[in-house]
Order: sequence, then structure tokens, then C-alpha cells
Amino acid sequence: LKGLSHWDSATKQLVPPNEHSFAQGPLQLGLGHQYEGAAFEDGRTPSIWDTFAHSGHTGGATGDVACDGYHKYKEDTGLMVDTHLEAFRFSISWSRLIPNGRGPINPKGLEYYNNLINELINHGIQPHVTLHHIDLPQALDDEYGGWLSRKIVKDFVVYADTCFREFGDRVLHWTTINEANIFSVGGYDEGVIAPGHCSRPVRKNCSKGNSSIEPYIAGHNILLAHSAVAELYKKKYKSTQNGFLGLNIYTFWLIPYTNSTEDVIATQRAIDFYIGWMVDPLIYGDYPDIVKKNAGKRIPSFTKYESKQIKGSVDFLGVNHYTTLYVKDNPSALQMDNRDFDSDIAVEIKVKLGDLLPDEYAIMPWGLYGVLEYLKQAYGNPPIYVHENGQVTRRGGTLYDKSRVEYLHAYIGGMLDAIRNGSSTRGYFAWTFLDCLELLDGYNTSFGLYYVDLDDKNLTRYPKLSAHWYSHFLKGKSTSS
Ligand code: NOJ
Repeated sequence: LKGLSHWDSATKQLVPPNEHSFAQGPLQLGLGHQYEGAAFEDGRTPSIWDTFAHSGHTGGATGDVACDGYHKYKEDTGLMVDTHLEAFRFSISWSRLIPNGRGPINPKGLEYYNNLINELINHGIQPHVTLHHIDLPQALDDEYGGWLSRKIVKDFVVYADTCFREFGDRVLHWTTINEANIFSVGGYDEGVIAPGHCSRPVRKNCSKGNSSIEPYIAGHNILLAHSAVAELYKKKYKSTQNGFLGLNIYTFWLIPYTNSTEDVIATQRAIDFYIGWMVDPLIYGDYPDIVKKNAGKRIPSFTKYESKQIKGSVDFLGVNHYTTLYVKDNPSALQMDNRDFDSDIAVEIKVKLGDLLPDEYAIMPWGLYGVLEYLKQAYGNPPIYVHENGQVTRRGGTLYDKSRVEYLHAYIGGMLDAIRNGSSTRGYFAWTFLDCLELLDGYNTSFGLYYVDLDDKNLTRYPKLSAHWYSHFLKGKSTSS
């Protein structure tokens, strides 16, 4: 495996990746609530996640300080070098760069992301940047309902344009939206992530929004905003910046609960809803038939122009993968009143989104293999980055995180099997670099290779066994290639 795009110190230029290149490195996101902290510093305004966390979700844990990446990025870059990382994935906080989502650029926000990007590049680490990671500026949500309004498309394009113009000379990999599918369902149907909309009768104390239509509307506007930004990049920046642009989705691997025909068909239906809902439009220009059939009038349609614009709008797909679930046919869901995204799938899934953080994930590397192989077969083998993959453990306790080492070792193997079988996977990012704020569980849960001592005012980072293992693994790779 050879390095992906790299910094050529002789010419002082980024050399873009070729067909056979590969990047590897843990990721950490710049979303204020998970890494950056400094939530109210230097002109940043609240995002929907600030509002969500401050209203008591995630057990009252907020990202006001998080891992303080805003001040500690230099120290963290040093740790990345020690860990032999080739790439670092993070997101830009829209409301730090452009407070309130629209209007003048915040010079302090610009300075921070320039400093971070320069620090990474000066240490030979490629920045892979996400534009939206569940952190829409709250002002835009207040003004017109955020992702529920088409007005978002224009504002997202202006924000993306700012990022490409200011950082695109050094950033080659752009992801428009993180987990477009789960953000739409978790944020607008189940209410488990920001902005926390949920009107489903099965949920208590959940009355904000309209689960029947909102996930489909948010998902549609996300796709329109993504494709408008992709068109902008292609027309205005591609020829000079030579970068790559993609969309990220969350993927379970789904397998039938029994070998009955019903469960087998139900499994494909669930894949069409979770994966096809977002990826079919990107590759084929429209939603899967079963999604249109079961959602009926509740899912918006693409006009001819929109369909043409979205088709082929990704240079790569970003894939987040953690676990494999069983799927059982559940036709009775289609009889429910107030049908929503979940009932439209008409399956019973053994684990639900809100329960997706067990004490540890079972190690099923063939799940990642299955996802990559499916994307290869169903979508003509698009380039893929595994953007997130990692083991969850309870926070604290021990630095001896053997199960994380076993998980990463196994899953990297599953990905390599898929590559040997022809998958066009171009890179892998372990989730995650540091123990910071976890979306569904605040500070009780950990995914990090490094433990962060929250009781110590310096937020000192300590390598876990997995950090040592990953560092040796990457070092071995670079010396042998
Ligand atoms: C999904 C999200 O992208 C990330 O923010 C979250 O922390 C991890 N996966 C783990 O749940």
C-alpha cells in the first residue's frame, strides 16, 4: 500500500493520489462538540449541536471544552506524527468560520483552520476535511428551519465556496456532509442527535417536528446542497486545485435473521433504505424504487435538472462502519398510522439507533467486507474511503484496550480482503484519535486510541495499547513499502 496524495517538499506542492494509492490514519473531527471545544471563543456562534447538548441530551455533557483541540492542535499533531499517521480527518465548524451561517468571515476562525491545516501539512499529514458534521449554525435553523428548507442550498454553497477558496490550495479531499443518512433519520425522525426532531408515537417526550416527512425532506435538501456544491467545485476549482469531493454515509452491514424469502427480501429493502436512499441518487440520479413506493408522497422527487446534477456528483463515497445487524421482515409496520422512515422499511432490526453504543461491538470484520463488496457490485465500484471504523469501550479504567486492538486488526483485514477482491477502497481512518465527546453518550464512552484525562486541567493525552499497536502497524507499513 502506497501513500495517498503527499506533500512534495522539493516543489512545495501536494501531489494528488493516483489510481493505486492509499492513505491510512485515524481521524478526529473538528466539530466543536467532539474535539475543538472553545465553543464560545473568538466569535464562534452556536451550532445545532450546542443547542441540543445544552438542552440536556447526551446526559448533559456539552462540547464547550471537549478535547480543547482549538488550543491543543499543535500538541495533537505531534502525537499524530508519533503515531505515524498519513492523514487526519476533521470537520470545519461552519459557525466558527462564518458566524450565524451567512455574512462575513470570522478572521479568528479562518486563522484557526489555516493554522491547523498548515501544521498538518508541515508534518506530512494530509487534511481530509468535512464541511458539515451535525453542526449547522443554529441561526440558520432558527431563521428558516435549517435542512428542512431549500434555502439551505444557497447558504451551504456560499460556505463551501469560502472553504474551497481559502483552504483548497492545501486540502485535496472534501466531504460535504457526514453521515447524510443517519443525520436525516437520527436528527429528524428518532430525535437522538441534533436538531432532535421526533414525533413518533413510540417515543415518549418527543414532540418536536414531524417524523413522517422530515427525514425525507432533510435528506433531499442534503442531497441537493451536496450536488450544488459538487457542481461548484467542478466548475470553479477542480482544474486548479485537483481535489476530490465526496459524501459520507453511515453503513451497517445487514444480514437476514432467517433464511426465509421474506427476511432475505426485507434485508435488501433495508439496504435500499439505509444505503440506497443516499447512494442511488449519487450514482443513478434517483431514489430506489422501493423507497419511493413505501414513502409515497412523503419523499420529494428530483426534477430532471436536479437528477442530472446529482448523478455522478461524487469522486468518492465516505463510509462509516461499526457493526452488523440482523433484519427480520415486519410487514405490519406498513399498517401503522403516522408512518415514518423506520416503519417504511417494514423490518425489525434487532438493534436500534439509540442502542447503538453497547459496551463493546462484537468483532465481525466480514461486515465491513460485506459493505465494501456491496458498494462495488451495486454501484460500479466507486472509489471509497473508510472514514470511520472503531471499537467502543467504557471510558476510563485501563489503557489496556485489547478489544480495540483486536477490532482494528480484524476490520483492517476485512477491508484488505475487499480490496484484494477488487474494491476501489482508497483509504482507511480509524475512529478515533482521542477520547473526546461521543455523540450519543457524552463522556461515558470512548473510541479513542489516546485517553484524555478530563480531571486534569491540561487534558493530558495518554496512549492506550491501541495507539502503540496502530503506530507500530503504520510504521511497519511505511518501512516495508
Ligand atoms: C458517527 C459520527 O460520525 C461520529 O461523530 C461518532 O462519534 C461516531 N460515529 C461514533 O458513534
